[in-house]
Amino acid sequence: MSDSVLLNRAALIIDQVSAEKPADYVLRGELGAAKHLLSSEKRDIAHAVFAYHRWFGWLDQSASTQIRLASALDLQRKYDADPASIKPESLTARAVPDWLKTEMEITPAYLRQLQRPSSLWIRVQREFAAALPRSLGHCTAPDLSVLPGLSTSGQPSTALRYSGSTDLFKTSEFQKGVFEIQDLASQLVGHACAPQPGETWWDTCAGEGGKTLHLADLMANKGLIWASDRNTGRLAALRKRAARAQVFNYRAVTWNGGPFLPTKTKFDGILVDAPCSGVGTWQRNPHARWTTTPTDVKELAEIQIQLLDNVANSLKPGGRLIYAVCTLTKSETTAIADKFTATHPGFEPAPVFGSLATADSRFFVWPQDFDANGMFIAAWKRKA
Ligand SMILES: C[S@@+](CC[C@H](N)C(=O)[O-])C[C@H]1O[C@@H](n2cnc3c(N)ncnc32)[C@H](O)[C@@H]1O
Repeated sequence: MSDSVLLNRAALIIDQVSAEKPADYVLRGELGAAKHLLSSEKRDIAHAVFAYHRWFGWLDQSASTQIRLASALDLQRKYDADPASIKPESLTARAVPDWLKTEMEITPAYLRQLQRPSSLWIRVQREFAAALPRSLGHCTAPDLSVLPGLSTSGQPSTALRYSGSTDLFKTSEFQKGVFEIQDLASQLVGHACAPQPGETWWDTCAGEGGKTLHLADLMANKGLIWASDRNTGRLAALRKRAARAQVFNYRAVTWNGGPFLPTKTKFDGILVDAPCSGVGTWQRNPHARWTTTPTDVKELAEIQIQLLDNVANSLKPGGRLIYAVCTLTKSETTAIADKFTATHPGFEPAPVFGSLATADSRFFVWPQDFDANGMFIAAWKRKA
């Protein structure tokens, strides 16, 4: 594809993008329908669209979309070759919206990470963890030694960074459910839950089931997982993914997050992977930097504490409650954890990873530390 065709195709997509139609949604629709394009051409178009939104703060808004796109690609090339080519002050002023500084500490390392194209992570089912990297190639395991409580040492990593160019969705291994595309930060949420075979868990905001499937694998498919969401379309996708992965020990139910719960079951563990502002996904999904607002953060924080309040009583004494959000704002992370601890004396903060009493009961996955999405995880134990 020539440069001008690439710019025209990417511009057609950018011109359709809005707050209601995010860039990744338009890309999925347009590229999914473009059967005549090669996988490599689709990748180049997606790269251009993401570069545009990543470098949006530097672009001359009076120029045509094609000219702005060409500038964005140029900035990306320069930055990839030499990150020092962009001054830290310029990153602070242009890479993220101004309101973010009221919600988090914005470090130069974080901003530098935000301007890189994101890595692709997969999660392989445990029984295939040794074989898959050999058959797929281009896989590297993350260094998780900074998480001493994580009980995965000595076993092949089930988290793998994929740097090849094969369309993974078309591989026979994907179609047989051997692996899922799942960001490393999301995988760390499953490890924080650390469910045991035979237990009963509730994945309260299960969506399309990324974490439900991980919990099932960690439980060796023994025990039961209730998977709920208010969006029935997402639950339908969960059922498809579960069938592909040969996961059957789950029950998918609709739940709107309110006080009427889908079951009276008392659980060994509950995961609240709550809806959030998604600031942690801004490297992978740069368009959201320019559409997310402080009002979103405020409204979502209200939903998050309500979700925790509503499910808390469904935990067995001694059970484990995990709160996770793929965002980094204070209002949706530490403020929620503080509020829950202050209003639920029957719960005590518990280690996020492992069982050492001294371990942290809150953990931020910083994108620059893990080359992954940003995530916040907090854990509590219900007192006996
Ligand atoms: C972060 S996503 C979940 C992702 C999912 N756990 C995964 O790993 O693939 C949050 C989910 O919460 C659901 N949700 C939003 N508001 C909700 C509410 N009030 N009650 C229940 N679910 C809600 C959304 O439909 C969305 O699927």
